[in-house]
Amino acid sequence: MKVLIVGSGGREHAIATSVAKSGRVDQIYCAPGNAGIAQIAECVDIGAMELEKLADFAQEKAIDLTIIGMDDPLVAGVVDVFEARGLRVFGPRKNAAILEGSKAFSKDLMKKYNIPTAAYETFTSAEAALEYLETSKYPIVLKADGLALGKGVLICNTKAEAQEGVKTLMLDKQFGTAGDKIVVEEFMTGREVSVLCYCDGTHIKPMTSAQDHKRAKDGDQGLNTGGMGTFSPSPFYTEEVDAFCHKYIYQASMDAMKAEGRDFVGIMFFGLMLTQEGPKVLEYNARFGDPEAQVVLPRMKNDIIDVMEACIDGKLDQIDLQFEDNAAVCVVLASDGYPEHYEKGKLIQGLDNFKDKEGYYVFHAGTKQGAEGIVTNGGRVLGVTAKGANLKEARTNAYKATEWIHFDNKYMRNDIGKAIDEAE
Ligand code: AMP
Ligand code: GLY
Repeated sequence: MKVLIVGSGGREHAIATSVAKSGRVDQIYCAPGNAGIAQIAECVDIGAMELEKLADFAQEKAIDLTIIGMDDPLVAGVVDVFEARGLRVFGPRKNAAILEGSKAFSKDLMKKYNIPTAAYETFTSAEAALEYLETSKYPIVLKADGLALGKGVLICNTKAEAQEGVKTLMLDKQFGTAGDKIVVEEFMTGREVSVLCYCDGTHIKPMTSAQDHKRAKDGDQGLNTGGMGTFSPSPFYTEEVDAFCHKYIYQASMDAMKAEGRDFVGIMFFGLMLTQEGPKVLEYNARFGDPEAQVVLPRMKNDIIDVMEACIDGKLDQIDLQFEDNAAVCVVLASDGYPEHYEKGKLIQGLDNFKDKEGYYVFHAGTKQGAEGIVTNGGRVLGVTAKGANLKEARTNAYKATEWIHFDNKYMRNDIGKAIDEAE
């Protein structure tokens, strides 16, 4: 079987690694890929948003299955483009990917179908939003409606901060048209958990849980990033929480999308907050998390191709989804200065240390092949991942493995998995 993966980050490297393990796959292509993915797949120079070119390539090479890793092409309708040509593709169609593409859509859906989430109002004019802020409770959360690389969410502690936030999103348009509409949402407190689920339009099966670390600096300080590290499973995601979420959140969301004529096939990603009042949805994504995929997929026992094909064929109920009874931790090695200004092109040393080391992975995110070797090519450079019998062991292993890698301006958080100790 020939598989094409669309994307270029650590998530896509993790997906490619799982696909490479499948006994059914002879050849993997990745568009556009990166230097790490190039070690297990043939990278092709087509951008993730060149939808027609991607479909041309899939037709030319007679690709049997295309897996869309990233959100932008999904929201833009890449799945519809592939399906119109009779190509098999894993991911939600445009009318379902809107679950991630519009926060206002997702909030309205949850409200309509009684799915637990924070109270909110939607605004299309800065004036109306500012008026609403006059009588709001603080802290409050402002969210750009559209895609903003996980950075369009502002937590505002005071009215003045919120007023500034409305200006940033709606008037200065820091995130472009993503901020034409904003959601103003009640601030929630609690533990955050990410749960990624396979979906076939009718059935939904959750994978093992994970927790991300979105802020750039230790102690959850600094700016929001794409994610600086993850661990899996979350010790706070108990069987009781899982049972509640399954009924009132996961299946309810699938059913709601179906009722709206937007059958969801692919990965539905739930960002959850475990509040005093019970689990509530912070956000939906329509694809694997990055860096959640890096700790979840290495622990999955099933052949990923079997599971994805079952999703496409509406037969997910026939899959017995299984995960290893262990743990994994991913520490992101970034370029110092990320997510603002940083330098690229630094030579990376020590990648070979991961060769043939069972339970250790170095997933490439922002890397490329340079004249003298592989060099840094982005803010998030590598996702160093290790398994362990339990979370503490996995964390020790992952931090040990970060020492095998060297590049100028290497930066990482030193407290990934701090919550593991708080769970005791
Ligand atoms: P989102 O992209 O919607 O997941 O938001 C990014 C991050 O902002 C989340 O991971 C939370 O840490 C935080 N956040 C979003 N919405 C809320 C909320 N209503 N209350 C508190 N924190 C929030
Ligand atoms: N790690 C969060 C995300 O992928 O959106």
